[in-house]
Amino acid sequence: MVLQDKNILITGASSGIGFEISKQLAGKGCNLAFLNRRTEITDKFTNEHSTRKNKIISLKCDVSRREEVLSAVTQVKNIFGKIDIAILNSGISKRFKVENFDSDFIRQTFEVNVLGMSYCIEALLPDFIKLKSGMIVGISSLADGRGFPKSGSYCASKAAVTLLLESLRIELKKHNIKVITVKPGFVKTPMTDKNEFQMPFLMKVDKAAEIILKGIEKEKRTIQFPAPTVFGARLLKIIPDFIFDKIAERT
Ligand SMILES: NC(=O)c1ccc[n+]([C@@H]2O[C@H](COP(=O)([O-])OP(=O)(O)OC[C@H]3O[C@@H](n4cnc5c(N)ncnc54)[C@H](OP(=O)(O)O)[C@@H]3O)[C@@H](O)[C@H]2O)c1
Repeated sequence: MVLQDKNILITGASSGIGFEISKQLAGKGCNLAFLNRRTEITDKFTNEHSTRKNKIISLKCDVSRREEVLSAVTQVKNIFGKIDIAILNSGISKRFKVENFDSDFIRQTFEVNVLGMSYCIEALLPDFIKLKSGMIVGISSLADGRGFPKSGSYCASKAAVTLLLESLRIELKKHNIKVITVKPGFVKTPMTDKNEFQMPFLMKVDKAAEIILKGIEKEKRTIQFPAPTVFGARLLKIIPDFIFDKIAERT
């Protein structure tokens, strides 16, 4: 797929991977619509990167609020005419010790990572199905295959995202709608800057965005990187639980 001139909606464009993807897409001459809460950042981006030919808009939207998402997506459709690609990237990660277990952490994580993405899909699908075209790119994680200590809510939310996207990919094929699952390893962003542990094969954010956009252009089903972390995640998934427990306890 050629990305130039496409109308692309991006959630979470105010930071990290979403911000970098937006920068690279602006360079390719796409029309962009940003949905996130910190519009002071995406408004500035809009002012700096809009040209007479390419529209860039920034809308304040908390993706965990269904009504805000439905209204923002309608506004984007009204301005652009239609949406070609939605990059559903907004996400949060809350690490906590089991002694501080609080179901509210789980609720908040699922509200953004899983329901936030679902509200966007709900808002997009009727038009995509009617037009028999469209692409949904959902950002999951290589942390979707195992429950890592202190990251239970994040891993569980990303496992839910991966399986949701997989089932949609198969069902939506008959409507000519593409669904792509993105599973990054560690990428240097404000999200990972908070991590107190060593992150193997930590990738620069510009490189990660480049890989994601190349994968979208190639219309890959799954975009996962970097290779050593993909291999490691696969291995962790197939080893017996008692070995996984020992490795996870130590790290
Ligand atoms: N960095 C990594 O190593 C890594 C690895 C695998 C997967 N991922 C996934 O990649 C995605 C981006 O992560 P990142 O590392 O770039 O994190 P980040 O720098 O913290 O950015 C997160 C983005 O999500 C948006 N967001 C958070 N809560 C939101 C809400 N309620 N409504 C709307 N937008 C919201 C934020 O925008 P506002 O605060 O302005 O709303 C921000 O733009 C996430 O889904 C993350 O799980 C990251």
